[in-house]
Amino acid sequence: MSTQSEINKVSTLGLKRLKESGEKIAALTAYDAAFATVLDEAGIDLILVGDSLGMVVQGCATTIPVTVEEMIYHTQLVVRGAKRAMVMADMPFMSYSSAHDCLHNAARLMKEGGAEIVKLEWGALEIPMVSRLTDCGIPVCAHLGLTPQAIHKFGAYRVQGREHDTAKRMIDDAFVLEEAGADVLLLECVPTQLAAQIRRNATVPVIGIGAGPEVDGQILVLYDILDIWPGKRTRFSKNYMAQARSIQGAIEAYVKEVKAVSFPSAEFSFE
Ligand code: KIV
Repeated sequence: MSTQSEINKVSTLGLKRLKESGEKIAALTAYDAAFATVLDEAGIDLILVGDSLGMVVQGCATTIPVTVEEMIYHTQLVVRGAKRAMVMADMPFMSYSSAHDCLHNAARLMKEGGAEIVKLEWGALEIPMVSRLTDCGIPVCAHLGLTPQAIHKFGAYRVQGREHDTAKRMIDDAFVLEEAGADVLLLECVPTQLAAQIRRNATVPVIGIGAGPEVDGQILVLYDILDIWPGKRTRFSKNYMAQARSIQGAIEAYVKEVKAVSFPSAEFSFE
C-alpha cells in the first residue's frame, strides 16, 4: 500500500508552493467517488465538494436547502476517489452562524467526512469564524464576491465589485480574512482587474471562478464543463465536452488549459 507522501497528496502547503512557483492550481467540484477518481487521474489539484450539489445533483433552485449531513455524505464519497487531490468541503448555509455551530460542523466535515479544508461564504460573519477555525487548526477557504448562499440578499447572480466602494470592501475583506488565518481565498464573479489586485496583495493562493486569468488557480462546477445541463451553463464556464471524446479527455483538457493560462480567456471573464 502506498503512503501519503509516495502519492504526493496535495496539501495547503502544496497549494502555496504552486502559487509561489507560478504554476496555476486546477480545481473542480465533484460529489461522488467515480468522478473524484477521474478528476484525480486527470491531474486536478483540488476537489471541492461544493454545496452546488443542491442545484446540480439534487435539482434545487439554490444551494440553501443543503444540509451538513448531505455534505458529510458526499465528502465521504469524494475522499474515497481522491488519492492525490486535496478535498475541500463547503459548509452549508447557516451551518456556521454561531461559533459553536461553526466549530462543531467543521469538525464533523473533517472527522466524519474526511475533508482536508472547509470553505465558508459571506462577509461579516466569515471573519470571526475563519479566526476560530484557524485557532482550532482547521484549514479554511474564504469565499468572496458572489456568495450563492446569500442569493436572496443579492437578489440575482451578478458580478460583484464593479463599483468603487464594493471593490474596496472586497480588497479589505480579503486582507482581513488572510490575517484571520484563511489558507485559501476563492473569488466568484469578480472583474479581472479587481481579482488581480486581490491576488497581488495576498500571500495565500487565490482561486477564481469567473474572476479572470490573473489569479493563482481556477475552479468550475464539474457538471457545467461536462455540459450535463445544456443551456444552463454560466457565462464564465466552458463546455469541455465540445472538443473531447471522453469525460477523462474533457477534464484533462481543462487541466491543460488552466496550467497553460489559456483558460479563462476574455470570453469567460468579466471587465
Ligand atoms: O458550491 C460550489 O460549487 C462553489 C463553487 C461555485 C466555487 O462554491
